[in-house]
Amino acid sequence: MVTVLVAAVAVAAVLSLPWWLPGRVVALRGRLFARINGDEGLPVPGDLIGVERFREVYGHPAAGGRSKGAVLSDLFWYWLSPGAHVHQEHLEAGERYDAVARTTRRYLAVPRAEAEELARRCVSRVLRERAPRGDTARLVRLRDLMMPVWAEFYYELVFGEPCPRAARDLIVGNADDVVTALKCCGLRHMGRRHRLTRYLAGRLDDVRHPLPDGLSGEERAYYLQGTFFNTAVVQMSEAMAHLLMVLARHPDAAATALTGDDRAFDAVLQETMRLYPLFGVAHRITTGDIDLDDGTSIPEGSVLCFGYPEFHRTGFDDPGRFDPGRFRDGPAAKDLNHIPFGIAANRPCPAWRLAPITMRVAAREVLRRYALASTAAHTRSMPNRGPCLLVPRHAPLTRRAWTHRAALLFMWIRDRAEDVWRSLVQLVLGTYMVWDARRQRLCERHFAQLETSHASSRSGTR
Ligand code: HEM
Repeated sequence: MVTVLVAAVAVAAVLSLPWWLPGRVVALRGRLFARINGDEGLPVPGDLIGVERFREVYGHPAAGGRSKGAVLSDLFWYWLSPGAHVHQEHLEAGERYDAVARTTRRYLAVPRAEAEELARRCVSRVLRERAPRGDTARLVRLRDLMMPVWAEFYYELVFGEPCPRAARDLIVGNADDVVTALKCCGLRHMGRRHRLTRYLAGRLDDVRHPLPDGLSGEERAYYLQGTFFNTAVVQMSEAMAHLLMVLARHPDAAATALTGDDRAFDAVLQETMRLYPLFGVAHRITTGDIDLDDGTSIPEGSVLCFGYPEFHRTGFDDPGRFDPGRFRDGPAAKDLNHIPFGIAANRPCPAWRLAPITMRVAAREVLRRYALASTAAHTRSMPNRGPCLLVPRHAPLTRRAWTHRAALLFMWIRDRAEDVWRSLVQLVLGTYMVWDARRQRLCERHFAQLETSHASSRSGTR
């Protein structure tokens, strides 16, 4: 009798793991990261600076330091390496930053019709190759499905010609490695990343626009890799995976998206980006004291951590509910607590115009061919890569209903089981990478070397 009871309790404990273990592991991971990294960050919004001061502090001229002086920077440089020292996101203000930002703007300034046509072509090609044929439904991971699309898109934007398969594999290998490490689901594979750098270093004369002045050949390859083949490909694939997950879980939003009404589509997209912002935290290091008129003072050298999810949840009724109506019928998006591309006063995303245009085309191309459905969890960090069922629109209805039910049940069970295993992997690998980044101190060493070389050139000129 006792044995049966013990066995029943054990079975119940194992079956209930998906409901309690991942949450506890995430909390433990947070505590371990804070322990290794120290407690340097000042959360905004937080106890010192409320949500009503969020934009003011983020946009303050003294909230301008990007990398130097924050332990957190060592971790981001580690995840984005090689070449984080010339990545636009991590450069400090100055001539080099200006040259890099100017170049990025030039590449992204594509006429709307051209960008739409390119996005349409890339999506069609990849779907023809990867998505289900005939009338069979297929389970996919949306992030994996989207990555080759944006690899092809940004390759063509940079080189002005269709992306060869070998180059696409290098780009996808690199971007997938970066985002997998960022989510602590796998370690970095520097070999994959270096292969792309070598390829780009051999293509520097083939680009559509001149590369930033003042950068060496290697740094130019790093610039291309960091901006277009890390950030652009990763962010677009993640953003699209979120959008398609939302469309899979809200058939009414999918129907709206298909109507061709751009305003209604944009409301769905804005609400998706409100609920699932790509940035959890963006950090800045203060380059001077910030004195607010309510008497709050933030000293120079503070590390401000701007929390996007917290900001996006304040000022909305029932903020956890998906409701595109907030952006259709309410105040303009700029008057809401909504900053999916950052804030204009402090280094916003240079793709704020291009990204939504191309996402709209890409989503419609997918929806025209497939009905989407998902029973997997949809969270902001989406470590499950967006499991989704693609059902060809022309498949017979009876068959559709059938495949749906079986596949969606399978997806639900698999997702819960994977969640348990993955949370443990993230705990172990995340702790290792935070520790390894602390050990390597890529950012801190870079600035120490710069100071040494400045000091020796000053003493040489004296
Ligand atoms: C939907 C897709 C995207 C979203 C939601 C997004 C979001 C953001 C956000 C919130 C920031 C500002 C973070 C901060 O204040 O530190 C940012 C910065 C940046 N993003 Fe994006 N991004 C997207 C796509 C892209 C693409 C396609 C590119 C390609 C070039 C890109 C390149 C950059 C760069 C270079 C920065 C740094 C800007 C600077 O410091 O001057 N992003 N992005």
